Amino acid sequence: MLLFLMAFLALLDIGFALPNPNSSFPFEDLLSSPERFGFPTWGQSLNVQAENLRDDVESGELNNCQFAVEFPTNAFVTLLTFKQAELTPTCRIDVSSAQDISTTIKVSKLTQCPFVVKSGGHAAFAGGSSIQNGMLINMARLNMVSLSDDRKITKVGPGNTWYDVYKKLDPLGASVVGGREAGVGVGGLALGGGISYFSGRYGWACDNVLNYEVVLANSSIVNASPTKYSDLYWALRGGSGTNFGVISRFDLATFEQGLLWGGSRFYSMDKNISLSEAFSNFVVDAPTDDFAHLYLAFVYASELGGFAANTGPVYGLPVANPPIFAELEKIPYVEDATGFSNLTSLTVALNQTAFLSFKTVTFNNDATLIKEVIEIFVEEASAVLDVPGIIPAFAFQPISLNIIDKMTKNGGNVLGLSSSSGPLTSNLPIVARLSLS
Ligand SMILES: Cc1cc2nc3c(=O)[nH]c(=O)nc-3n(C[C@H](O)[C@H](O)[C@H](O)COP(=O)(O)OP(=O)(O)OC[C@H]3O[C@@H](n4cnc5c(N)ncnc54)[C@H](O)[C@@H]3O)c2cc1C
Ligand SMILES: *[C@@H]1O[C@H](CO)[C@@H](O)[C@H](O)[C@H]1NC(C)=O
Ligand SMILES: *[C@@H]1O[C@H](CO)[C@@H](O)[C@H](O)[C@H]1NC(C)=O
Ligand SMILES: *[C@@H]1O[C@H](CO)[C@@H](O)[C@H](O)[C@H]1NC(C)=O
Ligand SMILES: *[C@@H]1O[C@H](CO)[C@@H](O)[C@H](O)[C@H]1NC(C)=O
Ligand SMILES: *[C@@H]1O[C@H](CO)[C@@H](O)[C@H](O)[C@H]1NC(C)=O
Repeated sequence: MLLFLMAFLALLDIGFALPNPNSSFPFEDLLSSPERFGFPTWGQSLNVQAENLRDDVESGELNNCQFAVEFPTNAFVTLLTFKQAELTPTCRIDVSSAQDISTTIKVSKLTQCPFVVKSGGHAAFAGGSSIQNGMLINMARLNMVSLSDDRKITKVGPGNTWYDVYKKLDPLGASVVGGREAGVGVGGLALGGGISYFSGRYGWACDNVLNYEVVLANSSIVNASPTKYSDLYWALRGGSGTNFGVISRFDLATFEQGLLWGGSRFYSMDKNISLSEAFSNFVVDAPTDDFAHLYLAFVYASELGGFAANTGPVYGLPVANPPIFAELEKIPYVEDATGFSNLTSLTVALNQTAFLSFKTVTFNNDATLIKEVIEIFVEEASAVLDVPGIIPAFAFQPISLNIIDKMTKNGGNVLGLSSSSGPLTSNLPIVARLSLS
């Protein structure tokens, strides 16, 4: 079957435009004269498959891609959220170029077989990067990470995780605005927004894409930048991806970056009030020091004897405990894993190995509200702790005014945040499970 799909793709590459799948596919010609389509011989099994496909087309039953390639399960891809792992695509297409993506889109249109795009597989919603009865376009082979000679641009393929990117850039003393955990994909994070350790200096990941190479629905390959297809460029900066095109390459703004300071700390739950205040004060004060980043999280962890609090102070320079974290410093912790580190190591330290499900909501930065949310989280989570392997968690993340300000560059993004919204807190209820069984 795989062979057949390849034959099919090759067919399209030699220029057949077939608007109606039910009417004009030259199956008879294909079966009788395969050499005209670039195939020297027709194997018997391929022949039968082509006949079946013709019959399906003629009977109007071609509304999914069962014929395309048969893969027994979705075990071949790592889908790190419950919602993706629940679905089983009919087939997986391993694209190696923008042209391959373009061809796959043609096949999808011709066959009316829906497709989905998978980068790192961390989408939280059903059908985000997997699909039932459809083609999964797997980006894994688009794994370029290439720093320009002038060190201002890194060309990155959507098959990379952020770990792959930082592992290449760290030794070169360069970096880009990207994710904080090793396994998250470049594609989804850069298209959806992208909260980074460097957001105080540069905004979100979506604000630091200088150019997108995009495969459009009509299968054309274009570049979208502030000067070319600028409306598409704007829409891709936080408007998520597949709605507008499939991105085959991100050209990311690049800066010089050495060691950082930071990591994570754990606290007992009775510190929740002082932590909420320190966090919300940090969000207000963050514009005084663009190098600082902080999250505040709460998690149920049996190793810690129950619920615990967790912070992630990170500073973009090798300076331990900079003054911006002074209030946080005063809060006694039970475990400290901060120190000097490169970005690669920081992302590995935070890497999630459990299956996740999460949602986000954003509200005004307010310590009273944060404290109430924590009480509700603990109350609600306590009711489900008997579910085997479950790890409820909750995280608060800063959207401080310096971040909002940096988001307005390059024409602004589609998220519509402005400094008149005031500093915000993005909050993230998460459920993790150690396994899906
Ligand atoms: C453990 C964990 C840590 C996280 N940490 C952060 C963080 O630090 N900062 C942050 O901002 N967010 C973070 N997130 C959220 C994360 O950015 C989103 O879940 C994101 O969508 C994941 O991207 P992905 O490529 O891994 O997932 P995927 O599921 O592969 O992709 C997400 C969506 O984008 C689409 N897409 C992906 N690539 C392309 C492409 N090339 N062209 C068109 N469409 C595409 C997919 O079709 C899908 O709908 C985290 C999530 C998890 C689970
Ligand atoms: C496809 O064509 C066949 C034969 O002409 C016709 O009977 C059938 O209704 C068509 N199906 C669709 C979905 O158009
Ligand atoms: C990053 O830090 C780790 C741990 O100290 C080290 O093993 C690794 O070589 C460092 N990588 C780079 C590129 O500096
Ligand atoms: C595809 O659409 C783009 C944007 O509208 C257009 O510029 C391009 O010419 C189209 N390509 C084809 C092959 O129709
Ligand atoms: C938060 O801290 C206060 C004061 O230490 C304590 O009374 C309260 O129970 C804590 N909340 C939770 C959810 O642990
Ligand atoms: C991060 O976690 C994922 C999921 O367990 C794993 O596949 C990946 O190898 C990890 N990455 C690193 C760099 O440790």
